[in-house]
Amino acid sequence: MLRETWWQRAIIYQIYPRSFQDSDGDGVGDLPGITRRLRYLVDLGVDALWLSPVFTSPMRDFGYDIVDYCAIDPLFGSMQDFDELLEAAHSYGLKLLLDLVPNHTSSQHPWFIESRSSRRSPKRNWYLWRDPAPDGGLPNNWLSEFGGSAWAFDEASGQYYYHAFLASQPDLNWRNPHVREAIHNVMRYWLRKGVDGFRIDVLWHLIKDDQFRDNPINPEFKEGQPPHWKVLPLYTTDRPEVHEVVAGLRKVADEFDDCLLIGEIYLPPKRLVAYYGKDLEGVHLPFNFGLLETNWHARKIAELIDEYEGALPAGSWPNWVLGNHDRPRIATRVGGAQARVAAMLLLTLRGTPTIYYGDEIGMTDAEVPAGLVCDPLGKSVPALGRDGARSPMRWDGSRFGGFSETSPWCLCPDEGPPNVTEEESNQASMLALYKRLIKARRHNPALTIGSYHPLVATGDVLLFRRSHPGCPSVMTALNLGDQPAAAILEGIRSRGRVIVSTLAADRDGEAVKDEIDLRPHEGLLIELLG
Ligand code: GLC
Ligand code: MG
Repeated sequence: MLRETWWQRAIIYQIYPRSFQDSDGDGVGDLPGITRRLRYLVDLGVDALWLSPVFTSPMRDFGYDIVDYCAIDPLFGSMQDFDELLEAAHSYGLKLLLDLVPNHTSSQHPWFIESRSSRRSPKRNWYLWRDPAPDGGLPNNWLSEFGGSAWAFDEASGQYYYHAFLASQPDLNWRNPHVREAIHNVMRYWLRKGVDGFRIDVLWHLIKDDQFRDNPINPEFKEGQPPHWKVLPLYTTDRPEVHEVVAGLRKVADEFDDCLLIGEIYLPPKRLVAYYGKDLEGVHLPFNFGLLETNWHARKIAELIDEYEGALPAGSWPNWVLGNHDRPRIATRVGGAQARVAAMLLLTLRGTPTIYYGDEIGMTDAEVPAGLVCDPLGKSVPALGRDGARSPMRWDGSRFGGFSETSPWCLCPDEGPPNVTEEESNQASMLALYKRLIKARRHNPALTIGSYHPLVATGDVLLFRRSHPGCPSVMTALNLGDQPAAAILEGIRSRGRVIVSTLAADRDGEAVKDEIDLRPHEGLLIELLG
């Protein structure tokens, strides 16, 4: 990287606006609610907020189905509310990132209404239309990520259109220059308003095979896996031509100062890093979801870090994600004790961390009874339901958790901890741990822009060191197991002192030499003295 950018030292915080703070008593979180809670985010110590979509939408996929890219859905507030949020965030020194959803629109978007109106519509080619197969059936075997075929039939015009997600989310045709221009202008609209960048939805989906070839059958498919895994998405995602499209988005970003582009991409490290672009002309941060997908074992995670660090192109900047609105929460995946270890891992690895709202207070997935499922994916594939991870933020111990005065749109467990108020007054809370880690990170550049050095460890222990010229090096020692463990410091001729334990403050300042003893589920941050 030629010059240091703001996001290298930054911590990103993802807000799912429906579930953060309701301000008008309709049970749905909104923009004035977020504005009201900015102080909390400043105290937490994060630098940038990414909002999941807040644009006009019929909400079939909760805002990832957009009808007007340049308008705020009334459920979330008005454009004035947005402007106020942006201004307030900036006045606190917080950056604001929006969610750009370029792969598909809502089927109620005027572009699609026009496109489907006739085969001769000037916008026909804005979406992916195909004739039925010679036998009258589906054009090919492509599958929707939300279940079933990815092709929906339009009776009136006698053709099928492609949708990677819901039938009410038709995919745009990114080979069409008019589509590119239209979305580029959406970016310019928000960037002129002063937003600081975008998280780009399903970036690796944008280009599909121009010959519409069948995807190969997946020989390893097992019952119980997501149904669309029956075929390998060879011709529907990660096509070579996508990189030219990504470079086009980046060009628009570069018309503005310091605009950050983050890409949502679920791919293994080697293919993921291609989204930085050959000459770094791609997105600044292709989201690294390794920690969402890995088994929670020290050796597996060590391999994952090595593989990712090894794959990064020269000059690129890494990033790590622990949770998002599409996956079970970290405390649900690994349990409350290990979620604390995970927090230390996230905040001491090399790369920009993204925190999913509520993870900093240790929220777990809400249990959603079958009859109350809202998520379209949860309705078609119950095992993959995402409502649990989207439950309202727990601000206090009151009936609706301080989220709303009325019953929220989605279930929230309505009693007791975790909640912000309780955790703010408890030094042993997850929130207190997050704050200490963030403070330590801010205090020592080794933890932000410093280099990363893996250290030899065995069993349940994960060990690494961060260093930066002129700053004390810092070592992270994590016990991913439920038994006491020791790490021998081979090859490090240094002494250190504990600056953070994930368990309690009782080891602060403890001297460390040659060997570190870790309690069950304990992580230690150790400043090296020489
Ligand atoms: C992304 C979003 C997810 C949404 C999907 C379709 O994966 O994160 O929530 O359902 O795209 O837009
Ligand atoms: Mg509301």
